[in-house]
Amino acid sequence: MSSFDIGIDLGTANTIITIGGKGIVVNEPSVVAYDRKKKVVLAVGSDAYKMIGRTPEYIVAVKPLKDGVISDHETTEAMVAAFIKKVSNSMMLKPRIILCVPSSITDVENRAVIEAALSAGARKVYIIKEPIAALIGAGVDISKPNGTMVVDIGGGTTDIAVTSFNGIVQDISLKIAGNKFDEAIIKYISNNYKILIGEKTAEQAKIQIANVFEPNEKNKITIKGRHLVKGLPEALEISEKDMYEALKDLTEEIAMGVKNVLERTPPELVGDILNSGIILTGGGALLKGLDKYIQCRIGAPCRVADAPLECVAKGVEAAFGLSEELLDGFEHISLYRYK
Ligand SMILES: Nc1ncnc2c1ncn2[C@@H]1O[C@H](COP(=O)(O)OP(=O)(O)O)[C@@H](O)[C@H]1O
Ligand SMILES: [Mg+2]
Repeated sequence: MSSFDIGIDLGTANTIITIGGKGIVVNEPSVVAYDRKKKVVLAVGSDAYKMIGRTPEYIVAVKPLKDGVISDHETTEAMVAAFIKKVSNSMMLKPRIILCVPSSITDVENRAVIEAALSAGARKVYIIKEPIAALIGAGVDISKPNGTMVVDIGGGTTDIAVTSFNGIVQDISLKIAGNKFDEAIIKYISNNYKILIGEKTAEQAKIQIANVFEPNEKNKITIKGRHLVKGLPEALEISEKDMYEALKDLTEEIAMGVKNVLERTPPELVGDILNSGIILTGGGALLKGLDKYIQCRIGAPCRVADAPLECVAKGVEAAFGLSEELLDGFEHISLYRYK
């Protein structure tokens, strides 16, 4: 990877950008603040995040990739272009860019992102599939003809895949991940305690106290919200058990997604996975007890990768050196542009 190689993990929650020789240079929320009247970007990343819910009507401060679906091409394209500009303004040569985009986006949406990279000055644009990047970033040698399974739990989607010989054998993308966990926590607290909490509070509670395997009822934190009947602010003590109850259906759905992919995987490769285990990546892999839950439900060893939030970005960075080998899951997109 040279200093003109830019790797972008365009996540639904966070965007991580790497530059050859420098490693990670941007790690910020996938948010853009966009002036619809003037058609200009006001801020991206952390600066734009602070503006969510605080802008006049003609300015949008949004997470365009939320839920794994690009809801607004214009803002997504603007966000990608602004992130690239942020890291490449001092560059003389046009960069090569590898993009890792959410697996659930459509061809049209994909194109908007690629166009953004090309119009931001990229010499070449490559697309890499998320599970491939996640495994490379987790330090797995995917070139061998052995089955490997990865479960990448991000903000909007959980991507489950079996790979072998540098390619994807079976995969599935579920729209159940970090954001849905937060929503489930909000719903549970409101139904059981009649208190409405905000998204950020729910996410913090998830990070601090969630436990989806053998929760300890004595482990508690205090959160704040608004009482639905009284209409006034109120503090509430919740335990690991509450979080377990709030999240148990969703964790079961993820385990069933893993089962579904394994059922469609050739038996030889399933045998490999039973030996080598399932690897969890993405921020959701940090959900306490999820590895143990999946291991218990599936009967294969399951482990969380080192620094799971950064696996995809590290895999994208490493992919510059593997472009010859990665047949499936790696496309030289700029070749298609002028068809
Ligand atoms: N310690 C943690 N426990 C549970 N979830 C976490 C933890 N840290 C981060 N997350 C969740 O991980 C998600 C973001 O993961 P990430 O891999 O960056 O997503 P994406 O690739 O979609 O941008 C968010 O929903 C966030 O709440
Ligand atoms: Mg991701």
